[in-house]
Amino acid sequence: MLTKEELLNAIRHLRDPEFQLDLAELQFVRDIMIKEERVSATVLLSLDDETHRNILQEQITNAFQKAGAKEVHLRFRHLSDFDRNEAVLKQQAQSTEVHNVKAEARNILDPSAGVHFIAIASGKGGVGKSTVTVNLAVALARLGKKVGLIDADIYGFSVPDMMGIDQKPELIDNKIIPIERFGVKVISMGFFVEENTPVIWRGPMLGKMLRNFFQEVSWGDVEYVLLDLPPGTGDVALDVHQMIPQSKEIIVTTPHATAAFVAARAGAMAIHTEHEMLGVVENMAYYQCGKCGEKEYLFGRGGGAKLSEELHTELVAQIPLGAPDNHISEADYSPSVYKAESETGQIYLELAQHVIGKLA
Ligand SMILES: Nc1ncnc2c1ncn2[C@@H]1O[C@H](COP(=O)(O)OP(=O)(O)OP(=O)(O)O)[C@@H](O)[C@H]1O
Ligand SMILES: [Mg+2]
Repeated sequence: MLTKEELLNAIRHLRDPEFQLDLAELQFVRDIMIKEERVSATVLLSLDDETHRNILQEQITNAFQKAGAKEVHLRFRHLSDFDRNEAVLKQQAQSTEVHNVKAEARNILDPSAGVHFIAIASGKGGVGKSTVTVNLAVALARLGKKVGLIDADIYGFSVPDMMGIDQKPELIDNKIIPIERFGVKVISMGFFVEENTPVIWRGPMLGKMLRNFFQEVSWGDVEYVLLDLPPGTGDVALDVHQMIPQSKEIIVTTPHATAAFVAARAGAMAIHTEHEMLGVVENMAYYQCGKCGEKEYLFGRGGGAKLSEELHTELVAQIPLGAPDNHISEADYSPSVYKAESETGQIYLELAQHVIGKLA
């Protein structure tokens, strides 16, 4: 049976006149569909020229037919600015033989980059958003995924401390290299301010900073990017909704009815901005007695279930009360990351599995 790889290999001898690289390498032949040996594809044109287009039509059709296609249908379109940028970068990568430039230059916000964004939101502060973000990110990495974490709480950043990060990111080729911890690439405002000085930016600056976190950071080949949002429905939350319309969302609440009620606002905002809801995480759901194993519901019960019902989504995890026991080793010390084998660590692994399944 004819495959996409065979078709791409068949056009490796065709070079784009402007970029002087082959069309497959440039990814100028896209959206290849094969149905019973009938092939359709989109071809990107670097030149606005009728003759060039006709030549390509003939060359590609011939190449595909030689590879085994019975019928070939090609659509043509001109390069967008984004495509042109990508092509220039590929060209540079080729000429300087810097192999990672392509990954560096990847704009993770572009939906075609295929990065899954998950924003973690809550109605009010202190419910454990950052704890959930950090541990879900680590759990995804433990399952072998390539994960990035953006601490989008620009005023109230806490991720570096929670993960026990004390180094600052380096700058290479004008790109910020995120700090990798427990297999997660992390970026936070905390890396760029002096020891505990307040961040005093207002609306537009916040949005700009946030955009930098996507575009000026060398994210490499991340598959999942988690965003720890500030509490509530303020500027940053709104910016995230606008910047990443494809983002999915998890709402964190405590089990108390009032907390769930407030969390509903964050949920309503997600729905309003058409962010798909992945589910509700109920944090501090219960306390499990270490000796008898009995569960005590110190902060009430049912908030998470009620909220998920209200938001037409599901309760994806209930996390018990309890700080991580963290005496792993000096190097791995982090106040908020649960060990994989701990009970809570297992709950986060299940949550990560569930998320992977839902996004697949
Ligand atoms: N399941 C839990 N058991 C015990 N303590 C917890 C749990 N989850 C979070 N905490 C603690 O509660 C506090 C608040 O958690 P966290 O900072 O994650 O919340 P947040 O929603 O991100 O807060 P903020 O709104 O300030 O950003 C932290 O001290 C954290 O260690
Ligand atoms: Mg937080």
